[in-house]
Amino acid sequence: GTRHPSIPLPVDLFGQWRNSAGIDLNDRAILAETAAAIAATPIANDGTDAVHADPRRASGKAKRKLAATTTPDLAVHEAVTRAQAAYAAWDRRPVEERAAIVERYADLLEEHRTELMALCVKEAFKTIPDAIGEIREAADFCRYYAHQARGLLAPMTLPGPTGERNELRLEGRGTWATVAPWNFPLAIFTGQNIAALVTGNTVVAKPAPQTPMIARRAVELAHEAGVPRDAFILVTGGADVGAELIADVRIAGVAFTGSTATAKRIAHSLLVDEDRAIIPLIAETGGVNAMIVDSTALPEQVVFDVLTSAFRSAGQRCSALRLLLLQEEVADTILEMLRGAMELLVVGDPGDPATDVPPVIDRDAYERLMAYRASVQGSWLKTVPVPDEGLFVPPTLVGIDSVDDLNREWFGPILHVARWQAGTLEATIERVNAKRFGLTMGLHSRIARSAEIAETRARVGNLYVNRSMIGAVVGSQPFGGEGLSGTGPKAGGPHYLPRFCAERAVSIDT
Ligand code: SER
Repeated sequence: GTRHPSIPLPVDLFGQWRNSAGIDLNDRAILAETAAAIAATPIANDGTDAVHADPRRASGKAKRKLAATTTPDLAVHEAVTRAQAAYAAWDRRPVEERAAIVERYADLLEEHRTELMALCVKEAFKTIPDAIGEIREAADFCRYYAHQARGLLAPMTLPGPTGERNELRLEGRGTWATVAPWNFPLAIFTGQNIAALVTGNTVVAKPAPQTPMIARRAVELAHEAGVPRDAFILVTGGADVGAELIADVRIAGVAFTGSTATAKRIAHSLLVDEDRAIIPLIAETGGVNAMIVDSTALPEQVVFDVLTSAFRSAGQRCSALRLLLLQEEVADTILEMLRGAMELLVVGDPGDPATDVPPVIDRDAYERLMAYRASVQGSWLKTVPVPDEGLFVPPTLVGIDSVDDLNREWFGPILHVARWQAGTLEATIERVNAKRFGLTMGLHSRIARSAEIAETRARVGNLYVNRSMIGAVVGSQPFGGEGLSGTGPKAGGPHYLPRFCAERAVSIDT
């Protein structure tokens, strides 16, 4: 496999919170422990079909195991009723208590990391490095949001010439509905829900139908850490369950991560009922993310960063590179090196520490990607062989004539390549902007002026210069896009929590 990025040791960022789970990827004991846990994880995911963990889709064997290890879910209406009833008491607890519970939950995620990583590998086809990333990011979200909440929710006395005592308080809004994706089944699920909970809201959470078991363990551990059972309730199922949850007029806010089309459907459905309150929607969606490479870039680094950005996680990250734009003069050289490097990718079993590219999430995704890939076969610049058995989409480079020829996201290991001409950097960036997505963009250039142009012109949430385009770090690289890529605020950033809060000003004549 390609070199795995090093996992930094725990550090005290700003002396306030720790932004790493501190798991050393090269620690053989952890790898061995994880491999054993993967083998022992009792879910029927044989890598050849859709993940069989959802009770509604499970095979008989998986169903029995699931039934033995879990409690049945509540129906949506009952879940919202209970979460609403739990709201007042949870919101009234001092923020310090909620923050301490959330930090305890982060500790539990780390203590249970082997089991959780095994679930990530088995249920979501995460590679071991990506499974480690899930634990780290989930724990990071908890510690960062706990730290942020303490400052944000402290009552603020406001000065003024009014002769009154004026106070501003941030509090929870009520019960939030959260809808999480399968591609970060622990990290994004945890981030959304903990943000809502630590600010005093209660939550009814719907994980992706592909990854309910990871979500279920996450919720169980949160309860163990001290989140009241009715403050954090899981409902599982597909789009029908999500739609029922969002249609419930008692919901005070929606946090959604998934496709742009679903985000728009949610936004629409929140507005149609005239009697319904106007509630916040936080949507994080996809992108057609471009990386622009000029003739001053270091080719070896470009090749490594392209492999990482486009093919790690089988391209199933919203941040992933979709469109590589090479300056004409270096295009042939870099393409030749990239073809060679793709030969070195290890496509295979996600539980094998050497694997770079795992299977895609389920048969629907596999068939959609394979059909598209076949439809552009005449434009393949490179593809690689993959194991016969399993949902492996071969990493594929597809040549296109211009930057304008790709306008939708293909959520898998398919990378499009076009060329751009020297002297057109600004125009090229504008053509990427014109797609109206705005999630990530990459630039590889040693010219400071080019980086400045990208900084001022790129309409994206996350711009990455001379590095890969994935793996935003909580607290250091707040993540999220604009335009068709989402509403903001950015996850893991200082402006995320306020969106979950109601602001209440109290003025008392003294
Ligand atoms: N936060 C992830 C990344 O940066 C994408 O969701 O890769």
